[in-house]
Amino acid sequence: MTDVLTPLAYRIVPVVVLDEVEDADPLAAALVAGGLPVAEVTFRTPAARDAIQVMAERGDILVGAGTILTAHQVDAAVAAGASFVVSPGFSSAVVERCAEHGVPVLPGAVTATEIQAALEAGLDVVKFFPAATSGGPAAIRALAAPFPGLRFVPTGGIGADNLADYLTIDAVAAVGGSWMVSRSLISAGSFAEVSRLAREAVGLANAAATGRQ
Ligand code: 3PG
Repeated sequence: MTDVLTPLAYRIVPVVVLDEVEDADPLAAALVAGGLPVAEVTFRTPAARDAIQVMAERGDILVGAGTILTAHQVDAAVAAGASFVVSPGFSSAVVERCAEHGVPVLPGAVTATEIQAALEAGLDVVKFFPAATSGGPAAIRALAAPFPGLRFVPTGGIGADNLADYLTIDAVAAVGGSWMVSRSLISAGSFAEVSRLAREAVGLANAAATGRQ
């Protein structure tokens, strides 16, 4: 079973909303070219399932499914080739189905109660979503104190301008965000810009790694 930390190794998880399956392959190529071969493809569009399949079949990018709300969607995501699953909140049904498939899951949790539910389910990494409006870096620092060993993946409201505020926190495993794979960039076919923003993000993450606290 892939560890949930595997897709987090780049410290950045691009969060993708794909409207057209045809964009999946050039998008994956752009992320690979930018040195960020990982993507969370959200189950918010009819194209998501096929897009995951197209990207997973390339073999050079780690593709997960995001916005997974039900056990049935876990089945569909895994069948399409998703190698990790992300959900916006904590759902026992989603977590249990992921365990049945042997697929790592990253559920959302922004309160101590939600975190305890994740811990009781045997997890030690949670998505902190929506990060900016849930208290941002200060909230993560406060929650990290009573939960030593827990790692966070803040997502929502993060970009090149503030990712270091999160990645310099020891308890933060990685950040997620759509800024380098925005819907407007994809629909405009601006894949060179996706690569540039991905490369910039990796550079910023590497710089932040030297300033962890
Ligand atoms: C989302 O749900 O779309 C992700 O959390 C990304 O959020 P962002 O667009 O603020 O980066």
